[in-house]
Amino acid sequence: MKWTATRIQSSKGREKLACLTAADFAVAQLLDQAGIPLILVGDSLGMTTLGYDTTLPVTLHDMLHHTTAEVRGVKKALVIADMPFMTYQVSAGQALRNAGRFVQDAGADGVKIEGGTLRVRTVERLVQNGIPVLGHLGLTPQSVRALGGYKVQGRKPTEAEQILNDAKALAEAGIFALVLECIPEELAREITESIPVPTIGIGAGRYCDGQILVTADVLGIETGVKATFSKQYAQVGTIMQQAFSAYLQDVSRGSFPAPEHTFQ
Ligand code: KIV
Repeated sequence: MKWTATRIQSSKGREKLACLTAADFAVAQLLDQAGIPLILVGDSLGMTTLGYDTTLPVTLHDMLHHTTAEVRGVKKALVIADMPFMTYQVSAGQALRNAGRFVQDAGADGVKIEGGTLRVRTVERLVQNGIPVLGHLGLTPQSVRALGGYKVQGRKPTEAEQILNDAKALAEAGIFALVLECIPEELAREITESIPVPTIGIGAGRYCDGQILVTADVLGIETGVKATFSKQYAQVGTIMQQAFSAYLQDVSRGSFPAPEHTFQ
């Protein structure tokens, strides 16, 4: 059965959601076959796939391109596309126009936007027009310049209260789920218990309704960014290096191509 935003929303309290990111057809297909319910075309692809230092240079065109490829690989998972920096901040109208492109042109099931109370009107506008929205609070990487780096958010009581209020406001506005990034786990627990939609944590501890990780981190593919809250489930980077070296050796020694790789 296909995962929908309403199915994700109604899974709260019933099952823990294990979500991952993807930027291309092949990885999206593998995640889908593994049964991952929600695949995010995260703008972290700016770092993992495009080689930038932050997500800020990622464009609407980049995200539409990667989302289209990912959608082709997915049959069951919910595909959510990250709206990149400056494609939704200007006005609710701008957000609606661009979110519409993710759904209509790229085939995404919904979009993710960063930010709290400031985004309420935008969330309402998208939801009223039939576009499911995933919220994102805590460490919001598109605000890295204002935050002064990639740091845990919500440690001070005033900050924690703001994040909790933002979460409630977004839930009220109609998000179907909420990503909580890099916040103390007790705050994540309080938010999870206070809102009716699932929380999906990344560096937000055990009590969220689900978890999300960046697939490059899970696979052990080095991209220069170290995420201490992540877990490496394989050393795919090392396996790839070994394969490339073996190929290099085979070609330089003349043992590839062999007769079975050759047309006579
Ligand atoms: O861009 C991304 O991959 C994300 C996740 C880390 C939630 O926003």
